[in-house]
Amino acid sequence: MINDKKILFSGMQATGNLTLGNYLGALKNWVNLSDEYECFYSVVDMHSITVRQDPATLRKRARALLTLYIAAGLDPKKNCIYYQSHVSGHAELSWILNCFTYMGELNRMTQFKDKSAKHADNINAGLFTYPVLMAADILLYQADVVPVGIDQMQHLELTRDIAIRFNNLYGDVFTVPEAYIGKVGAKIMSLQEPCKKMSKSDENPNGSIYLMDDPDTIIRKCKRAVTDSEACVAYRDEQPGVKNLIDIYSACTGKTPSEVESEFEGKGYGDFKMAVGEAVVSILKPLQDRVKELEADKAYIDSIIKENAEKANYYAAKTLRKVQRKVGFPDRIR
Ligand code: TYM
Repeated sequence: MINDKKILFSGMQATGNLTLGNYLGALKNWVNLSDEYECFYSVVDMHSITVRQDPATLRKRARALLTLYIAAGLDPKKNCIYYQSHVSGHAELSWILNCFTYMGELNRMTQFKDKSAKHADNINAGLFTYPVLMAADILLYQADVVPVGIDQMQHLELTRDIAIRFNNLYGDVFTVPEAYIGKVGAKIMSLQEPCKKMSKSDENPNGSIYLMDDPDTIIRKCKRAVTDSEACVAYRDEQPGVKNLIDIYSACTGKTPSEVESEFEGKGYGDFKMAVGEAVVSILKPLQDRVKELEADKAYIDSIIKENAEKANYYAAKTLRKVQRKVGFPDRIR
């Protein structure tokens, strides 16, 4: 607990262009939960280098992502918004947790399997131990809750296993975190291949709506979205393309899938897709405007980066010192 509130941790990678999936599956929930919890939102730049990055681009994207967190409505005076690489405790705890994680566990991670297939020329040790760094991120702040999309569930389960294992050996050191999965939008699918998740690394740009896409592009991508020949706006697994569009529309408007079905009863896919596009624009356009405004205020963003890194370091150091003592590292001489 901090200030009598439970603790929330989450993060996003500053890799590629963020998609509507990242927004609806994660960021939107973060904003909804931010009053209830003491929150830490990290730009996880250390995770990003498990795949080769251009340094200047990574730096630029990391800053853009941090700005986006604020633009989405997270108040940086209340929520700790910071760069993972500014808090050395992440790497230090990650090392310790590596020694409490089994190769067999990491071998089972589906994201590792997918990423190593995609980057066969660079299957580095960081890619393999990525979930341990993620566990360190979460456990470092004693987080109670971690809002993520469904694709991160396996990593969350591993984090819980590591925390429980450590606690069984050394007493109650870590809070065992729970995942928070939103009711809608937890798995937004590609607009072109609705059985595949919408992803920033998708080679087909028409499959994803990027958060910075202009309104015309968003409408065009929605109009081109793959559907079926049923000609019926119904929320069922047999119509994955339509189901995904209903999910997107629901998440953007707050309507339930059955309300959406009634709204479009007897209407064609053309009308429906247009409405989905407009609903997405109505969410993303204000966000984009706010990003531009904030980007212009360099001194403000810099001050947030500095203050919040100090705050994150303070809480991280508390956990880290405790863990170091537990495993037997010598006390510091003051
Ligand atoms: P990342 O950067 O791939 O994605 C950020 C968040 O967006 C969610 N997400 C989606 N949700 C719904 N539909 C989609 N199509 C979709 N695509 C992505 C992800 O589930 C995630 O919540 N390993 C993490 C980053 C991370 C992290 C952490 C998260 C590092 N440390 C600690 C939570 C706690 C990742 O790569 O997310």
